[in-house]
Amino acid sequence: MRGLGRRRATSEGSTWVRSRRAVEAPVLLAALPPEVPFGFLGRLLPTSGDLRGDLELYPVPAGEALTILQTSESVARAELLRGEGGEGGRTAQLALEAESATEFSRAVAGRRQELYRIGIALRARGPTRTSAERGRAALVRRLAALGFRTRLPRYEVGDALRGPRLTGTDRRPPGYWHTLSTDGVAAFFPFVDEAVLEPGGILLGLLLDDASPVVLDRWSHASHSWGIFGATGSGKSFAAALWALRSRWMVPELELFVLDPLGEYRGLAERLGGATVPIGPGGGTHWNPLDPATAGGDRAEKAARVGILRRALFPSLRDEEVALLDSALARLFARGPTVPVLGDLSAELRRGGAVPGRLLELLEVFRSGSLRYLDAPGSVPATANPTVFDLSGVPEGHRAFHLTYVLDGLYDRLRQGSAPKLVIVDEAHLLARTPGTAEFLDRLVRHVRHFKAGLVLVSQSPDDFLAQSAGRSLLRNLRATALFRLPNVSAEAREFFDLTGPEADWLPRARLPKEAGYAEGLLRYGPAHLPLAVIASTPEYEFLRDALGSRGTVDAVPLERHV
Ligand SMILES: Nc1ncnc2c1ncn2[C@@H]1O[C@H](COP(=O)(O)OP(=O)(O)O)[C@@H](O)[C@H]1O
Ligand SMILES: [Mg+2]
Repeated sequence: MRGLGRRRATSEGSTWVRSRRAVEAPVLLAALPPEVPFGFLGRLLPTSGDLRGDLELYPVPAGEALTILQTSESVARAELLRGEGGEGGRTAQLALEAESATEFSRAVAGRRQELYRIGIALRARGPTRTSAERGRAALVRRLAALGFRTRLPRYEVGDALRGPRLTGTDRRPPGYWHTLSTDGVAAFFPFVDEAVLEPGGILLGLLLDDASPVVLDRWSHASHSWGIFGATGSGKSFAAALWALRSRWMVPELELFVLDPLGEYRGLAERLGGATVPIGPGGGTHWNPLDPATAGGDRAEKAARVGILRRALFPSLRDEEVALLDSALARLFARGPTVPVLGDLSAELRRGGAVPGRLLELLEVFRSGSLRYLDAPGSVPATANPTVFDLSGVPEGHRAFHLTYVLDGLYDRLRQGSAPKLVIVDEAHLLARTPGTAEFLDRLVRHVRHFKAGLVLVSQSPDDFLAQSAGRSLLRNLRATALFRLPNVSAEAREFFDLTGPEADWLPRARLPKEAGYAEGLLRYGPAHLPLAVIASTPEYEFLRDALGSRGTVDAVPLERHV
């Protein structure tokens, strides 16, 4: 036809239309899901496909909006009353509709939300009818996965795709017009990706769908703490170390500390010119958990903080035992030796009068048991940058206790100096199991931000934290949460993290580094949910591959070579 001055006539099938350049296959939305992730439209209409979405938007005047909402509420309630809901699902849906209408009415009346009339038409395009319909079928599948019910306009393609006259009253096929709240409309804007290029931040990874980079600056937010959750082997420790390396790169004065229950980060300390502090019976480090120096010499504060240690060590104490122990602690710090040791605590207890035998038995662990190495004066070890506290030598049952006193000791260190500080706590679930240690960690997350410090909590399942109210509070105070492969996503986790059905279904299928060569996960960042690939450059990968891992990976160099 080119050059011949002839035009191919526009032709139209029942569900498609051929224009001069392409065949267009529209799809309308018959029903919207109750929730969608922000920016979902960008994922539905990737730039890699020939797809188009047209939106037209009209605010509904407040008075009219209230009438619409009241009508929809009373329709739903009337239906509910008449028992038209039938069994299960429909009744629940009606109840939900009625409730959300009530809620919206309040929000509209209070001017927190507005109602919009929104016209939505999506279309796939292709050079042939087959390719356009194939594109549409894929789009319909993606829409269904997000919970949309779709509708193909039959013999009404022209009405569906016609450009708007911008009156808001065009005659359109069913499925074109919808009424949405401000939040609902906001979710349709595909701009969320652009909001995560924070200047001065570090690259966390690339979006799985279009490889746009996600760059976050932890220091520009109220909380500098992040969480990383995922199954063993999902890439948590690697990501924690990678992001710490990049943070050091951006902020060279950054001080890095790692609490390392499994002894994986030693090589990292060594290669970055820092130090590893072994904690535990064979460690040779004397760290007296009762040393008031870790509370800046404030003995009363130290006594209170030792109470937390006590809970970490003996979570099963009865109330009267707790009372006895705490009053002995208070006395010890009020009038005991300048630097008390744990042996002094048993002595102080006995001095207070009759002590239940069980309590003395429990404390015996410091005199003749596996923790006797702690019953001695000793100072908080000098730190380097980075400092890795290696707790792999601590018997498993005592790891929570050791993590707690090391963190307690570190707290003072974090308060000093003006440099930003980052503390990676790996296997953090050890601290989530008892309310005492979960509260301690929660408080730490809330307090350390005042001195420009952030925690990176690394743990297998968020459920360990969700089980405790302090754990939930802690999770709420993490600015970013990366969820790598999770074997299953509990109902609590779904609700807490506001995961959509498809997101929750995807997490158990997120690819592992050993499958993909990088780690896949979902980054929760404010309202954004970003499916992410955590990708290291070759030098970063090689560095971390050699630096992380069990002790064996640090090369043994024959001594002669140094001589
Ligand atoms: N983003 C990544 N890119 C390449 N390899 C990775 C990545 N994340 C993890 N790995 C590799 O996968 C393995 C498991 O990672 P690791 O961080 O130890 O998992 P986790 O701490 O979740 O158990 C390690 O051998 C690590 O080198
Ligand atoms: Mg790990």
